[in-house]
Amino acid sequence: MRVHVLGAAAGGGFPQWNCNCGNCARMRAGRLKGRPRTQSSICVQGLPGPDWVLVNASPDILAQIKATPALQPNRALRDSGIAAVVLSDGQVDHSTGLLMLRESTRPLPLWCTDPVHEDLTRGNPILGVLGHFCGVERHAVPLDGSAFAVEGVPGLRMAALPLASKAAPYSPHREHPVPGDNIGLTFTDTASGRSVFYAPGLGERSEAVDAAMRSADCVLVDGTFWTDDEMIAQGLGRKTGRSIGHLPQSGRGGMLEWLDELPRATRKVLIHVNNSNPILDEESRERAELDRRGVEVAWDGMEIEL
Ligand code: MLT
Ligand code: MN
Ligand code: ZN
Repeated sequence: MRVHVLGAAAGGGFPQWNCNCGNCARMRAGRLKGRPRTQSSICVQGLPGPDWVLVNASPDILAQIKATPALQPNRALRDSGIAAVVLSDGQVDHSTGLLMLRESTRPLPLWCTDPVHEDLTRGNPILGVLGHFCGVERHAVPLDGSAFAVEGVPGLRMAALPLASKAAPYSPHREHPVPGDNIGLTFTDTASGRSVFYAPGLGERSEAVDAAMRSADCVLVDGTFWTDDEMIAQGLGRKTGRSIGHLPQSGRGGMLEWLDELPRATRKVLIHVNNSNPILDEESRERAELDRRGVEVAWDGMEIEL
């Protein structure tokens, strides 16, 4: 199985277009040791081959495809290495890219939960808009943990787990979460049984998520904020990380404590990193702490082979 990270940043990307926070300003000025990152998306395949599952469709999808020859048209006049799209939620940073795929020559195979389908039909009706172009061939992601697979991407099995996080602001249940607003996804190589757990928006610990993380060979999880009050402390916003569905890395009950409890052999990678997060600076003490704990930070172009 291969996971290719297309975009490792949270919504806004890094640097963010209108942001002069310490990280963004230093990145623009060439004074930060680190990489720019586009918005949150990965693609996954089981057996080596031309077709991939795109997991989340970021507003940066066109730049991500340009940077990824495997996703480009290689076989026909109109063609793509994207066999299907799976969404982990209906947030802007994970769904806007669907509009950029409107030239598809067939209805876009789209896997999402019922609440996400509803949000993208009503609150932010991009599926209705897409209906005037390629349209979608919608498949419901089961929430009971049963496995599903995408046609054309052999050797790969997926399973979803409802997460406590947040629906998009245009969702009628933004403040009253329902199962399926956000999911974690386990990708399993059907030949080797090896697996990756992916959850870019993970707000709270739970036994079910803990079990999914423990049984995966690699976890690719919420790296949005280092501290819960990061946006407030830097004067960038008024909301805590937890209140928008992102468990911070540091502190008691934080992501690092959790990752420490996983088996030693588990590969631990943070993804969906907000531009305010000090771990983007490779010379920061926070990044050194990740190194000490054996935790990696995803980057655009990173390949995970299992
Ligand atoms: C989130 O992950 O909390 C959202 O994507 C924020 C956003 O809309 O950019
Ligand atoms: Mn996001
Ligand atoms: Zn910034």
